[in-house]
Amino acid sequence: MKIYNIALIGFGGVNRALAELIATKNPLWEQDLGFRLNIVAVSDLYLGSVISPNGLDAKTLVEANFAKGGFGGLSGGSAEADNEAIIKTAPADIVVEATFTNPTDGEPAVSHCRWALNSGKHVVTTNKGPVAIAARELKALAEANSVHFEYEGSVMSGTPVIRMAEKTLAGAEIKGFEGILNGTSNFVLGRMEQGLDFASAVAEAQALGYAEADPTADVEGFDVRLKVVILANELLGANLKPEDVACNGISKLSTSDIRAAAKAESRWKLVGSAVRNADGTITGSVAPKQLALGHPLAGVNGATNAVSLNTELLGPVTLSGPGAGRVETAFALLSDIVAIHNAHSPNFAKEAA
Ligand SMILES: NC(=O)c1ccc[n+]([C@@H]2O[C@H](COP(=O)([O-])OP(=O)(O)OC[C@H]3O[C@@H](n4cnc5c(N)ncnc54)[C@H](OP(=O)(O)O)[C@@H]3O)[C@@H](O)[C@H]2O)c1
Repeated sequence: MKIYNIALIGFGGVNRALAELIATKNPLWEQDLGFRLNIVAVSDLYLGSVISPNGLDAKTLVEANFAKGGFGGLSGGSAEADNEAIIKTAPADIVVEATFTNPTDGEPAVSHCRWALNSGKHVVTTNKGPVAIAARELKALAEANSVHFEYEGSVMSGTPVIRMAEKTLAGAEIKGFEGILNGTSNFVLGRMEQGLDFASAVAEAQALGYAEADPTADVEGFDVRLKVVILANELLGANLKPEDVACNGISKLSTSDIRAAAKAESRWKLVGSAVRNADGTITGSVAPKQLALGHPLAGVNGATNAVSLNTELLGPVTLSGPGAGRVETAFALLSDIVAIHNAHSPNFAKEAA
């Protein structure tokens, strides 16, 4: 049975949910997956940092309700988040990067990933910034250091669009995709169909915790743009940057646009898409689109996400599921660790059967 030592960078919703799962599910993972996870370090801007080579108790980490700089009171702890030292020196096999998404240059998460990979540590991340902006470089760095850079949760949280496309649909020839990749904007459009105006629908999304205090990244399409870049680069072999993808959000749609669509047996959806053109180039876009009711994405409601992959051999293949959520996104990290484990212990699944 394998034990993976992990270092958590960022200890907000997602990494905290991973620690909660570790506190309860290690025995199940030992039995079903062939490994357990041991948290040897945590670094967080608010809480500080701590290294414990023998492992920190996950339940205590989750339940202790530390104050600002609270890790400073632990053995091996400091009130400051010294990410570089933690990433380079903690005795971790895997660095779990879940700090904030910087859509402009991906920092400081790109540096976190570089430090880890250069130290011979695998990286799993849910952070869209380093994946959208530096995936090519980071994948090459991982390969040069014989480790993995995995990021299933960067698009559609734990819903396995990247792995399904790359593993299960290998050979099906993906020619493009269309997706509903932002739950907040989809929720807002749904409430507008039920009669709310845009501002009231956004306010309701904020009250329910779907939308941030500043909803711009969600409703203006910037969050979807990063996901389009990630999927286009990953699934279609493109080399797009965010600025290459034309981006329009839903804030200009009025209730009369919504009513006119309903009369025409269609619905407005914020669609992130990319397509391989006849000349081999790839074009990505984010825009509100009026979809006929029979379209595979037209019936995707509320905060649910979905992506419809256009394949040569199967036609459209549509996957829908959660696009956010602490536990759902922590599951994506687990799925990345399972992928690393299976790549290094390929016989485990057979032995366990
Ligand atoms: N939650 C989801 O549903 C979801 C889904 C898909 C992807 N993601 C992505 O996953 C990542 C984590 O999400 P989350 O929901 O856990 O966010 P979160 O709750 O805001 O947690 C992020 C944590 O990282 C800390 N942090 C920020 N910058 C840091 C730095 N330079 N060094 C150390 N710690 C730092 C933050 O501290 P402060 O609070 O003091 O800044 C916070 O505790 C984000 O990139 C997010 O976009 C989230």
